[in-house]
Amino acid sequence: MSSRVPDDILQSIRERTSIVELISGYVTLRKAGRNHLGLCPFHAEKTPSFTVSEERGLFHCFGCGAGGTVFTFLMKANRIEFRDAVEQLAKRAGVRLPQTQDLGSGNPVRQELLAINEAAQAYFAEALRSPRGAQARNYLKSRGVGDSILSMYGVGFCPPGGAGLAQSLAAKRLSLPRALELGLVGRRNDGSTYDRFWDRITFPIRDIGGRIIGFGGRTLGNNHPKYLNSPESTLFHKGEVLYGLFEARQAIRGAERLVVVEGYLDVLALVESGIEYAVASLGTALGATQLRLAKRFASEVIAFFDGDRAGQNAAARAFAVCAETGVWGLGAFLPDGFDPDTFVRSHGKAATLALLQHAVPLADFFVQFNTPDAGASIPQRARAVQKVAEVLGLVRDPVQFSLLATKAAQQLGVDENVLRVRLPSRHRTLTAAPDEQGRSQNLTVFRPEEVQLVEVMALDDNVAKLVLGRQLLEGFESEVLAEAGRQIGSARRDGQDVGSILDKLPGVVAERLTAGLVGQIPASMADRMQIAEQCMARIDARKRKKEGRALREQIQRAEARGDRSGSLEALRRVSELRHRRGSQWG
Ligand code: UTP
Ligand code: MN
Repeated sequence: MSSRVPDDILQSIRERTSIVELISGYVTLRKAGRNHLGLCPFHAEKTPSFTVSEERGLFHCFGCGAGGTVFTFLMKANRIEFRDAVEQLAKRAGVRLPQTQDLGSGNPVRQELLAINEAAQAYFAEALRSPRGAQARNYLKSRGVGDSILSMYGVGFCPPGGAGLAQSLAAKRLSLPRALELGLVGRRNDGSTYDRFWDRITFPIRDIGGRIIGFGGRTLGNNHPKYLNSPESTLFHKGEVLYGLFEARQAIRGAERLVVVEGYLDVLALVESGIEYAVASLGTALGATQLRLAKRFASEVIAFFDGDRAGQNAAARAFAVCAETGVWGLGAFLPDGFDPDTFVRSHGKAATLALLQHAVPLADFFVQFNTPDAGASIPQRARAVQKVAEVLGLVRDPVQFSLLATKAAQQLGVDENVLRVRLPSRHRTLTAAPDEQGRSQNLTVFRPEEVQLVEVMALDDNVAKLVLGRQLLEGFESEVLAEAGRQIGSARRDGQDVGSILDKLPGVVAERLTAGLVGQIPASMADRMQIAEQCMARIDARKRKKEGRALREQIQRAEARGDRSGSLEALRRVSELRHRRGSQWG
């Protein structure tokens, strides 16, 4: 199902494509110092602010804020998806793409892996029906799962006691190393093999073509982990599948509705109750690929969340994914303490449908969730507005953005322009005029020192290590940038280049970062380190100021209560904070 192209192939396409040559097909470029300059094809301008760096393989427009790699350029210029841009550039660069997994043909390794999964599925399904499966059948019965659902979803069982599956695969002359790669079989230190899903109920995970790409396995008892999943492999990318989509695809198309829950058993329970359009994100937060996939099957996509604080946080995060993908989902909420499985089994189908009927657009939920109480202080309000503006800034489509901003402004009780000026500049062409120099105003969304620090992290391993080591990202005001910093950190550890890092970040962050990367690039390592130190000092100073403010408030409150020891304690911490300032970066 996934159409993921491996990183090393993307990298070789980027390396073999001259970005100047590519863009010259659309824009007249002239050399200006280390870079090339031209009139931006993405907004109307008279003086060129569209900058291309051949050296880094990046472009950035200092007028409208657009920026990125060769892939991003083609996507924007031709209004195509990432995957199509990859295909066009691969052809141009003479790089062969691996067979897409949707085609399922041609690639012998893939065929072999699928055959092994099929054989494992046959073994598991048979085992559940056999006498060895009695305990597993009882467990499923105790959870209320009926026989027809078991066979519809191909639920099986991996018996305990050794290497039955491994032996069965060997008898069919299937490759042991491939079974190890798929995580069906494990190897002990002494070299012997064992069935990895040993003593677990198995759930085959299929792609939209019905091919088995992985398994989940639930313990019958209290073993850890409760669920074991297939590891990432050529076949299986956990964050990109929706469990049960293949099985429910007709029901979903018929209902024009799709409900996303977390777990395997939630899906089985809902489908069994007659809510047949349920699929699972497999315990991970709903991701962009999953959301896009869901929308291909149904116009109405509802994510079903727990009613507790964690569920609400998950819903707020899900909206950020909507904003980023432009796919607008709904959220429905369970009462505290229930998951879809326990709720539908105790309250029934009608009550569950009623919850789904009350689903709200995640956008509305998000704004509501971030709206401060009536009694909130001005700084609290300002922070809430900042947070909403930041996530709205992820919305790429200017019309959608505009509609959302209007609604959010009403709800937050602020002037609409407050949300608009804080925007990344790309939207500005619709909204406000550029400043005198015609320069981007998008710095207001993010703190400059945070942007700059993340930029230098993307350029320099040593800086990336230092920032992660000092745990500075936790002190960031912008969660989006902190997350970008984390991704850059792990990408750098894997030795990925800047383009590859940028292609994986949310568009708005990538665009912001390209500004610094094609601009004045600090050449020497010493310069980069010095810039990083300055940014870190500023971030730390702000953090300390915030802590100091909180402590002063604490002292005031303690004194108002006449709580002498409380105010002394807070005073002691203030002096600690002062002391830390002197020594931290020494
Ligand atoms: P939960 O842990 O919320 O499911 O995990 P649950 O409702 O308590 O599980 P049951 O009802 O007792 O069986 C939800 C989903 O998260 C993933 C699985 O996909 C699971 O269905 N998960 C959970 C894991 O991958 N590993 C785990 O250890 C736990
Ligand atoms: Mn459950």
